[in-house]
Amino acid sequence: MPIAPSAKPSRRDFLQFAGSAAAFVALAAGPFAALAQTPGAAPIKIATIGAGREGGALGTLFAKAGHPVMFSSRHPEQLKDLVAGVGALAKAGTVAEAVAFGDVVLLVVPYGAVAEIGKEHGKALAAKALILDVSNPIARIAGDDQSALALASRLIKEIGFEPVVVGGLAMGKYLVPGTPLAPVHTPEEIRQIVATLK
Ligand SMILES: NC(=O)c1ccc[n+]([C@@H]2O[C@H](COP(=O)([O-])OP(=O)(O)OC[C@H]3O[C@@H](n4cnc5c(N)ncnc54)[C@H](OP(=O)(O)O)[C@@H]3O)[C@@H](O)[C@H]2O)c1
Repeated sequence: MPIAPSAKPSRRDFLQFAGSAAAFVALAAGPFAALAQTPGAAPIKIATIGAGREGGALGTLFAKAGHPVMFSSRHPEQLKDLVAGVGALAKAGTVAEAVAFGDVVLLVVPYGAVAEIGKEHGKALAAKALILDVSNPIARIAGDDQSALALASRLIKEIGFEPVVVGGLAMGKYLVPGTPLAPVHTPEEIRQIVATLK
């Protein structure tokens, strides 16, 4: 999984979904089930931890889809141009400010930084509706929490991708490089491969 076990908040469930060949992780979404509505429902406050190529692009897409977005990094003062380019729905802050801001948090940092972020902010992150982890180039969804999957699916659709749920977390073993679901496939190919897996 993209987050080291020591960094896991206790209530989290994991999922992974398609989007620019990215892998994501979700937290339990019990109190936030209402957020998992169809595309076009009420905006959701989204924070990015990391605002480089991937975080900048995804945050921009979510802002274009109508969601308020706070970009963050260790150097938020360097994000002024990004924020100005995205427009009124965007702002920048520290990682702590972003964690406080977002109902959904995108982790888009180098893989090695994830454990440190989990250690410092794991407790606050555990209270979030959803954590989407892009720190691993995997293009499917897997998760055990249906509300979290629904929320992730809504957000993915809103930025123009087709989510493909491949099953529960046990399917995660087929998402790592070298296993059947790791390469790029069409949604239909993914469904056909999943039907052959246990
Ligand atoms: N680029 C892609 O196409 C792509 C696709 C799929 C997945 N990914 C994955 O997505 C992740 C990000 O990739 P990227 O290409 O966007 O990297 P990037 O352009 O280098 O951006 C990384 C961002 O993370 C921030 N950051 C680094 N360490 C941090 C920390 N400890 N706390 C908070 N922020 C931190 C950096 O800002 P500061 O240094 O200023 O803090 C920067 O904003 C990687 O794990 C990568 O494998 C990337």
